[in-house]
Amino acid sequence: MVPISVKGILRGVRGILFLKNPRGELELPGGRPDEGEDLEGALRREIVEECGIKIHATSYMGSSSFQVVPGQRVLIAVFDCGFTAENPVVSNEHFGYEWVDPERERPAVMPHFYWEIIYRLRNVATVAEVVPPDVRRSNHSMPYPLQIGFLDQDRLGITSRIYDASSEKFLGSFLPRKGNILDVGCGHGQMTRWMARESPEAAVLGIDFSRQQIDVARVDAQREEISNVMFSTGDIFELPESAMSNSGFDLINCRFVLLHIQDRFHALTNLLERLNPGGILVTEEPSLASLYSVPPVKAFEEANALIRRFGLLNGINYDCIEEVWDCVHRLNARVFAANFSQPTIWTPELKRIVGLSFRQFQDRLIACGLVTPTDAERISGDLDHEFMQGHVISTGLRTLQLALGRANEESGS
Ligand SMILES: C[S@@+](CC[C@H](N)C(=O)[O-])C[C@H]1O[C@@H](n2cnc3c(N)ncnc32)[C@H](O)[C@@H]1O
Repeated sequence: MVPISVKGILRGVRGILFLKNPRGELELPGGRPDEGEDLEGALRREIVEECGIKIHATSYMGSSSFQVVPGQRVLIAVFDCGFTAENPVVSNEHFGYEWVDPERERPAVMPHFYWEIIYRLRNVATVAEVVPPDVRRSNHSMPYPLQIGFLDQDRLGITSRIYDASSEKFLGSFLPRKGNILDVGCGHGQMTRWMARESPEAAVLGIDFSRQQIDVARVDAQREEISNVMFSTGDIFELPESAMSNSGFDLINCRFVLLHIQDRFHALTNLLERLNPGGILVTEEPSLASLYSVPPVKAFEEANALIRRFGLLNGINYDCIEEVWDCVHRLNARVFAANFSQPTIWTPELKRIVGLSFRQFQDRLIACGLVTPTDAERISGDLDHEFMQGHVISTGLRTLQLALGRANEESGS
């Protein structure tokens, strides 16, 4: 029988991780399963052993048999891996590592079959091709997968009705009366405007890397005649200084943004660094795995599973609570408060969010080969009909709300 080797695709900012083996060739991390070990278990073990990286999610990509050395065929099973960005620490099985950009030439020391694997995956993950050209890509993330600007007004409006009450309750106890407040990845600015209304003497700035989101936020702020709020484009990885004092912020809010970011550790580091002494960072991020409906609706479960797989395929684990909490500890951040929250979605108006969200992902799911156009239409149709029936209720996303400070600092508020 052809032996099996399980290999991991770890996509970093600079490309896919390869290790240098004693033959001087580049190879994907991974190896042979031990007796009785499942493939994912073997992959996790091998990757920790070979490069010290902990995998927190895997998604099966496919398998093929290759002649790895003359006369020896091996069945290579490939998994896309979600991992917390960190530098590999290679074991003495290898002589180093390299991040290989699949858009460039094949490195001379990479066997052809590995290049073929990457090449095939490159054809599968054609996400960038269906992204509108005006959607900016942060250096540390895949392109933002949802619609933006006025096209997403309906869905973000429902999001606000589902989640704002709990977010406001949590955030409310940390709002400074005066000073500088920043809302990062503010979208259409619902929470930004709420903070400005609640703290009329504070200067509130909302930033988002999409100009279209900012356009909507500005229109709404003008309509509501809120004078202490400003909006501008900005990236979580290049945070601004506060306009008033050219320093940091007394409160930074960041909700449903780390969810879309690969390098969450770096993002959280940046957010904490931008705090004034005694300042508070409030984050709220969800896990998509937390969704369920009563009674169970197949299309609801399929839609959720597909979106989670799409994330993993693109290096994003949408079940991000665990990773955010892990980063908080690795950063040694002070935790002033932590709270799990999970709303109920039961009115027809709120239930529409499920179909709206799925439809926004639909083309990308098809382009990635995760679902056929026929199945995507069926799921979409069932979300509009079966899921919308009066006897079906569902949860919204479970989120983890955190109020954080820099290490060894007391809250100034
Ligand atoms: C799901 S929306 C959340 C909007 C808002 N925070 C809320 O809770 O209503 C995520 C927003 O994050 C923005 N975003 C994603 N990556 C970002 C980045 N690297 N820097 C700044 N904004 C980003 C997107 O453009 C989008 O508007």
